Amino acid sequence: MTIGPQPRPPKETANLVPFAHPSEEEFAGILDFYGVTWEYEPRTFPLQEKEGRLALAFTPDFYLPDLDLYIELTTLKQKLVTEKHRKVRLLQERYPEVRIKLLHRSDYLSLLAKYGFGPFSEVEVAGIHEVLISAAELERRVKELGAEISRDYRDREPLLIGVLRGAACFMSDLMRHISLPLTTDYMAISSYDGEQGGAVQITKDLVEPITGRDVIVVEDIVDTGMTLNTLLETLRSRNPASLAVCSLLDKPARRLPKVPIDYCGFVVPDEFVVGYGLDFRQKFRNLPFIATLKSDWLKVWKTEKRPE
Ligand code: IMP
Repeated sequence: MTIGPQPRPPKETANLVPFAHPSEEEFAGILDFYGVTWEYEPRTFPLQEKEGRLALAFTPDFYLPDLDLYIELTTLKQKLVTEKHRKVRLLQERYPEVRIKLLHRSDYLSLLAKYGFGPFSEVEVAGIHEVLISAAELERRVKELGAEISRDYRDREPLLIGVLRGAACFMSDLMRHISLPLTTDYMAISSYDGEQGGAVQITKDLVEPITGRDVIVVEDIVDTGMTLNTLLETLRSRNPASLAVCSLLDKPARRLPKVPIDYCGFVVPDEFVVGYGLDFRQKFRNLPFIATLKSDWLKVWKTEKRPE
């Protein structure tokens, strides 16, 4: 451990720093995700001397230079928290110009949950089992898909058709990563089972004609493929110049008709997933990550009519 400021580690190197605890690494991941510059344990503050020798010192976990703020995580053993409070108090007495914040275990866990890192071990989000795809992973992949589409459609002006409501988050992020002139439109589809035999119905049609256009259908998830199949048949009959599919998620386990997925974000297992636009009974759409549901909620899904 060293005294005095140390060279700042380059950004986004959370996996290269020898962290003392996994929670520190996760926290660095959150800071990287938000582009907040950080230094790990850059400075040790002498707090007490006895007979001319250093008796007590304190090395806060992080320093955020842009905020001129030290952060100490109290995510380790709860009994250490009191000792940390004492050290912070001593530090503030001796170095009143230094700004430091203790980040408590509960604050830290809600941050992790909110931004899609780690499991929901101690954070109460009713119905959610675990994070399957984190917000950072989503952002990275959506960016890649946008770049791929931009390359493939160079010199063309695609028309993106978002399928409501599930594709709302994906569509708005994806279009911002496509570096081409483009237009957008939306359709809404509802599936109903029982007497209608699982037929799919268009409940909101496009505003613009698509004849001669390079159409890309933007879907949240392809499960049985029934919805997409019907949608593609409808769109094909309107004579677009080309028709492609970009789906954030592909759940191939229950596929019925063969449907083309030209751009796929992630392949997911046969589990009901929510978040980032996907719902369970209209809930969870606003989660910034994709998560699985708890098994008792799943039972409801398996025994009852599928949500639209
Ligand atoms: P498909 O017709 O069986 O392919 O179902 C497609 C639609 O069902 C999607 O657009 C979603 O609205 C919904 N869906 C299927 N699987 C899930 C899931 O795991 N979570 C949330 N919605 C789903």
